[in-house]
Amino acid sequence: MYHDSDSLDAASWQPLLTTRLLGRGENACLLETDSTNLRLRLMAQAGAPHGSLCLCEQQTAGRGRLGRSWHSPAGQGLWLSVLLRPKLPMDKAPLITFCAALAMARAVREVTGLDAQIKWPNDLVCGGKKLCGILLEMGTVSDTEYFVVTGTGLNVRRGAYPPELTGQAASLEDFTPPPPRRELLAAYLAALEEAVSRLESDGFDGILPALRSLCCTLGSRVHVSGAVTLTGTAEDLDASGALMVRTDDGQLHRVLSGDVSVRGVMGYV
Ligand code: BTN
Repeated sequence: MYHDSDSLDAASWQPLLTTRLLGRGENACLLETDSTNLRLRLMAQAGAPHGSLCLCEQQTAGRGRLGRSWHSPAGQGLWLSVLLRPKLPMDKAPLITFCAALAMARAVREVTGLDAQIKWPNDLVCGGKKLCGILLEMGTVSDTEYFVVTGTGLNVRRGAYPPELTGQAASLEDFTPPPPRRELLAAYLAALEEAVSRLESDGFDGILPALRSLCCTLGSRVHVSGAVTLTGTAEDLDASGALMVRTDDGQLHRVLSGDVSVRGVMGYV
């Protein structure tokens, strides 16, 4: 279901742009596509410049992390991918996930006033429920040249997530009248451009203070499952973005990835 006043045509959001490059390359604004990440990867391989984007009203094969699918019904969310060709060594590219999380948290806070927080490493939550997921995918051009497709799925209206996920998922509309998506888009692109340029110039330290202040995982009891399984208190992030978790025997563990449940968030008690 589309809302006339909530258009995502380029003509509706371009006047709101405050960025230098993001949103100013090649833009594909589609009614329907399989996955904006997939479309943008093809655009990148065909030479689309840094800052190009693909967004759509509806994805028929939206992709989530860990091989999951991402529910993306028409007009209900901001289904968006941004192409970055960052000035970073390739092994630092995964840190862009944190730039996207930070940027989306800032955009939601700025546009709606909601207390959106980051659940390490790449979810956005509000009121203990998931509002937005992030899927970063890389492609190589040569040994040193690469691109990153930064996909974000932000639930805006109530129909964005399936009813069976009501305990874990939320939309902006669950908390506030939904704002025009073009405003969220413009605020996100501005914040993403700033975060990526800080990461390029100052490394992870450039974004760490902002990340610490918006990350609800830090200071919380967490359960980690995946390559390692443990329960403890998340104390901090290290220079590579890993989560430092202290177990009750006093040992500090470095958690790189895996599913992390945070007490009080997304159904974990
Ligand atoms: C997650 O599993 O939490 C990540 C979900 C990412 C979904 C977004 S929607 C836009 C972009 N295109 C995709 O196919 N996936 C991402």
